[in-house]
Amino acid sequence: MSEIVKEAKSLGLEALFQALHRCPELGNQEHQTAAIIRRRLEELGVEYTPMLDTGTVAVIRGGQPGKTIGFRADIDALPIQEDTGLPYTSRTPGVMHACGHDFHVAALLGAAELLMRRRTELRGNVKLFFQPDEEGDGGAERMIAAGCLENPHVDAMLCCHTSSVIPTGTISVRSGPICAASNTFLVTLRGKGSHGAKPHLGTDVIVAGAQVVTALQTIVSRRTSPTDPVVVTVGSFHAGTAGNILPEEAVLCGTLRTMGGATRERVKEHFRSIVSGIAAGMGVEADISILDSYTGCRNDLAMTDLVRQAAGKVLGEQNVLELAEPSLGTDDFGYFSDTVPGCYYYVGVGNEEKGFTCPNHNPHFAVDPEALPLAAALHVQSVLDYLNGNDG
Ligand code: NI
Repeated sequence: MSEIVKEAKSLGLEALFQALHRCPELGNQEHQTAAIIRRRLEELGVEYTPMLDTGTVAVIRGGQPGKTIGFRADIDALPIQEDTGLPYTSRTPGVMHACGHDFHVAALLGAAELLMRRRTELRGNVKLFFQPDEEGDGGAERMIAAGCLENPHVDAMLCCHTSSVIPTGTISVRSGPICAASNTFLVTLRGKGSHGAKPHLGTDVIVAGAQVVTALQTIVSRRTSPTDPVVVTVGSFHAGTAGNILPEEAVLCGTLRTMGGATRERVKEHFRSIVSGIAAGMGVEADISILDSYTGCRNDLAMTDLVRQAAGKVLGEQNVLELAEPSLGTDDFGYFSDTVPGCYYYVGVGNEEKGFTCPNHNPHFAVDPEALPLAAALHVQSVLDYLNGNDG
């Protein structure tokens, strides 16, 4: 076991993680979470600046001049009622850390403690971004706009995300695209209501909506390349109040996922033409709104190699797993890695023996706390390799 891992295990990060897990807060409302983060930074003597109200930017200035590397930990939770039965379960009804952001915060604070002990030997600086609202409208873009990547200027960025599909003691990563670009859509179909027994006197938005849902499937199967990953999901379809009434309105919402670029634009065009074409053919009106959400994440080759090598030292080379494909999930870390070279990777928190196998965004999601010191140690090793070369 590497010396840094031994040191990380003695930090007692589990208590900090449990405290964060008990008080999950939704995006832009992370006041208690920010207070825990800032209190810990003060205890460690790390300088920091509040940003976007609940966000925090901390700087560890090395004893010698050099480059600056940044780490992002998202801090928000999800509107889910926790059902894990864990002793440190959420104390806030209907809100839960179901994506492991509590883990990200605890691991980064652990890394801060270990890096403060090594401050004089660091050749350069480390910036720690505790970012609000990853699950909502996105805090990353707003933090960058507020200047978080300057003073000192950040040269490269890293970010880990929990994954319960790989075991504790492993990471998974790939260079190039790793997360999808996301668009959300809202379609409102308007027709003429009528008695359910006299449909010819109205225009049926439910039949039109059903055709729209079916036809949208052809974007993936017939309009984009089979080797270019695309998802079209209609996640909600609401219409009507009773079995014998044709309603006047149907509302469909969902998400489009692509690897960005030209495909993203083409998918939006196909979407509009299918919905408006079917609506016209069925005699109903369609209001179509497609909003750009996150841009997707692309991993820089050199930064991905840095993570692979650091993880090889901390976890063993056989525990550095290569992802064959990108995820169609999304993350606003892409705004950081679009601005400076970056790498986003998954840290294993799955443990079959302990029953930590449930995927994220689920009321039963739980991370294996034994992965905390490993993630903290990997942050530290990555800093040493990036700033000081391989002598860390
Ligand atoms: Ni997440």
